[in-house]
Amino acid sequence: MCGIVGAISTKGSVTPFLLDGLKRLEYRGYDSAGFCVVGESGRPQVFKQTGKISELAHYPGVSSVMGEIGIAHTRWATHGAPTAINAHPHFDCSGQIAIVHNGIIENYQALKQLLTNEGHRIVSNTDSEIVAHLIEKFYQPGQLERAVSTALKLVEGTYGLAIMHAGERKIVAARNGSPLILGVAEDAMLVASDVSALISKTNKVIYLNDGEVATLTESTCDVRNLDGEKVNGVIEEVRWSIEQIAKGNFKHFMLKEIFEQPVAVANTLRGRLKEGRIQLTINLDIQSLNRIIIVACGTSWHAGLIGKYLIEKLVNIPVEVDYASEFRYRDPIIGKNDLMIVISQSGETADTLAALRLAKSKQATVIGLINVVGSTIAREVNSGIYLHAGPEIGVASTKAFTCQVTALTLLALYFKQLRGETLDTELLTQLEQLPKSISDTLALSPKVQLVARKFAGVRDALYLGRGFNFPVSLEGALKLKEISYIHAEGYPSAEMKHGPIALIDNQVAAIFVAPHDELYEKNVSNIQEILARQGRVMVITDEADDKLSDMVEQTIVVSRLREELMPIINVIPLQLLAYYVADAKGLDVDKPRNLAKSVTVE
Ligand code: AGP
Repeated sequence: MCGIVGAISTKGSVTPFLLDGLKRLEYRGYDSAGFCVVGESGRPQVFKQTGKISELAHYPGVSSVMGEIGIAHTRWATHGAPTAINAHPHFDCSGQIAIVHNGIIENYQALKQLLTNEGHRIVSNTDSEIVAHLIEKFYQPGQLERAVSTALKLVEGTYGLAIMHAGERKIVAARNGSPLILGVAEDAMLVASDVSALISKTNKVIYLNDGEVATLTESTCDVRNLDGEKVNGVIEEVRWSIEQIAKGNFKHFMLKEIFEQPVAVANTLRGRLKEGRIQLTINLDIQSLNRIIIVACGTSWHAGLIGKYLIEKLVNIPVEVDYASEFRYRDPIIGKNDLMIVISQSGETADTLAALRLAKSKQATVIGLINVVGSTIAREVNSGIYLHAGPEIGVASTKAFTCQVTALTLLALYFKQLRGETLDTELLTQLEQLPKSISDTLALSPKVQLVARKFAGVRDALYLGRGFNFPVSLEGALKLKEISYIHAEGYPSAEMKHGPIALIDNQVAAIFVAPHDELYEKNVSNIQEILARQGRVMVITDEADDKLSDMVEQTIVVSRLREELMPIINVIPLQLLAYYVADAKGLDVDKPRNLAKSVTVE
């Protein structure tokens, strides 16, 4: 999720406003930043670099950059590593058209080929730069907005864009799928991807809608659709604090990220599931594959365990799952016909990085499922899938987990496709509709919040599930323990009798993930064993059952999807439960004690 800021002013340089705006967008995650202003000289002045926004602000010469028109950008890389050349703004061949972009251009490869064939020189390896050259292709002097509209009709994907031409005193802003807001100030017109970057200058805003293009001069704002038909932009007043804006209406980033999961999963799927086929840029000789080893840590390891169940069920290839720290020190048996899949949100986890290097040294092929583009692990795998979940700021991983499982589902289906086998239409349809199913599950949040208040005082918690729901139980337990500090463990339900049941008393919560499948009655027996010992029981299930509801303290009923997709649904009440318990205890949910967001040390 990148940050965009732009301004055109009647007086004074916009540079201070642009840099302040970038700072206010820093929470959205960034790996590089840049800006461009045009002053009286009519020549674009550009600064772009990796690193913190504060470093950009103190870059030699930045403070003397003056200009009444400018655009700026903080980058969260989706294509191309975080480098200065990949940082925005991007320019056309003439160096006169500058653009900053937030979103994903799905058909950028085809557009890149078209433009390269016409002689355009593409200098970065981002999807965004293509837009600058496409506008150049249609540009006529004095008609920047017309060139933008014509160009965007050829673009597939999502964009929030701010565009300027050194020879025109205007900024053109366009939106499709990525937020873009216009600001109406006394002495300037503004644009940003987030209100937090505008609030220092004005609380009067116009929210652009998808398919709209706005042309800003110092004192006017003209909004049209891509066909040039006028649209009336409505000016609204914003009454939020900066801090509140950064988290939206959410108390913590973790809760915001739980609720971002429909969009995050949609971004993981975007462009990769079309007309019943899986489209991934992973070359693999599936026929000569011996076995698959999935390696990760923490939540990513739980996703990997689900990956085992998915691949073995859908593709019938044996899969091992290993903690990265165990794999790397075990002198593992792995060779050139083996495939390693590494999973890492940060792409910087030391043990996972070491495991992948060891596997590559033994000639294995390594695929990565990573969220942070250009991270160390992302740069060292042979190929992979970027999650496109956007920055995950809360230490407890939530949207990255559901996006990892989504990516593993795509990968399992892709392996099946490589083998020439037909894909299950019902599964593909439900996969495509997953964002909606996640939204429906999030609607249970108020009920889970009530449950959390009742369970906040327990001494221990056992999370119990079978099959695909055993890794979900492990993940639910990790969520609770890492942010509420309540001791919690995940187990296969049947393991209760092999020790854990000794823990049960009225201070212990047992959270079952028990769908109405062929093992449901066995789960009910386990529940009865716990109730007989005064344990407190909560059940996540997929069908109301009065008999069960009468027996246990709480039942949460989620919608039923194919078994392969249920981990993504079942984990959501468990994420919410952990969050609301920790919040009820007044703990620092986003920064729990002793933990770091990325474990880059061993
Ligand atoms: C999960 O909530 C934790 N933050 C932690 O277990 C995390 O999943 C683990 O450190 C792996 O991180 P990675 O995905 O960035 O490699």
